[in-house]
Amino acid sequence: MKLASLCSKHPWNLILHQQDLENSDVFETLKQLHISGEIQPGDKISSYDKVSLNILEQLAKLFPGEYRLSEQSLLNQNVCQQVLRVSPPVTSNTFAELPMSRDQLDKELSEHGYALFRADQPFDEKKITELIGGKDKLISYKHGLNARNQVPHSIFSYVTPWSHKEEILPHNELSHHTEFPKYVCFMCKQPAQHGGETTIYDCEQAFKNLSSTCQQEIRGRNVVFVRKHVEQRDHEEYDSSWQDISARSSQDAIAHWENLGYTCLLYQEDYNGTPIDVLETQLERPFVYHYQGRTCLNASVVGAAAYWYRQVMGDKKPQLSLQWSDRKPLPEKLLHEMEDAVKLARIFYFDRWRENDLLILDNLRVAHGRLPFLGDRLVGILMGTKARFKFQVNEWIVEETYN
Ligand SMILES: [Fe+2]
Repeated sequence: MKLASLCSKHPWNLILHQQDLENSDVFETLKQLHISGEIQPGDKISSYDKVSLNILEQLAKLFPGEYRLSEQSLLNQNVCQQVLRVSPPVTSNTFAELPMSRDQLDKELSEHGYALFRADQPFDEKKITELIGGKDKLISYKHGLNARNQVPHSIFSYVTPWSHKEEILPHNELSHHTEFPKYVCFMCKQPAQHGGETTIYDCEQAFKNLSSTCQQEIRGRNVVFVRKHVEQRDHEEYDSSWQDISARSSQDAIAHWENLGYTCLLYQEDYNGTPIDVLETQLERPFVYHYQGRTCLNASVVGAAAYWYRQVMGDKKPQLSLQWSDRKPLPEKLLHEMEDAVKLARIFYFDRWRENDLLILDNLRVAHGRLPFLGDRLVGILMGTKARFKFQVNEWIVEETYN
């Protein structure tokens, strides 16, 4: 079967031809077919062409765990690659009612690091707030990457507004920052027409999935998250303004970030022939940390990969860049390996978002991302109970209830 003549009878045995590659953006077509649910478990897609081999790998990487990739050498030194759409096993940790107390919530999170609450009516937001530490312990994005507006008539904030056409890479919410939430809640107000799953990943398993060489390379080492800020809001090239933290000058902003524990550098860069003041903030974070007896990979390193920012930000400077402690850039090969390790640790917890679904994560156990989608989607986020990394006896641990 060819891409140009798909039929409604499954399983498909689709073979990508040179003709397909010449006439259309095959990857985008396959992506759309996947999101809209047209590629079904049991369907096979094969390729004998070098260009489309890469496309099949990309497809399997975009929807981790949903395809089995195999390769076969042929007599004429060519290679045949195939992806088989599979139904991954689902780990169900679903409840119809909210827990009675925070202790009960912790119990429900203890085995898998996540819990899904599913009912016909919206869950009580006041009760959710209490469960994650109370109103005093809610965390806002004031010092994070993007200021977020609140969803109308709700205590939840909008999730990050990245393009619906792209995936959002796995990350632990705000773990590139000095303090971050222990609990992260996602509430589905409106599911997308197709796709838009909030993907979740086991951070302990992600570390185990790394090669021993990679584990040795990053264990006990730090990564520096670097961010550039300028005065002007909505600058064409720079994404962040110090006005977003209500600083009236670069000196105000330096005082703010140094107080939080960041290292600040103020210098000038050339912007279209004019020098412009740039304030760079730097913060060393662990690659690996210990939490509740587990060795976990800090997935926020993956979420800040330069190749992803190039894809979603175009000519704008990346929001974050990553360096070793000696200020050399992190190699992209390492980031790809870490991305693969995290994605291999994906937890399948439901078929798709339904209205009123509430997903609560232990942000240190489980990383999250988002798949591309079609149509409108409204999922709100609420975060509570501060945690922070602490270096203790040669390893990074997490202080769970820092306040
Ligand atoms: Fe996030």
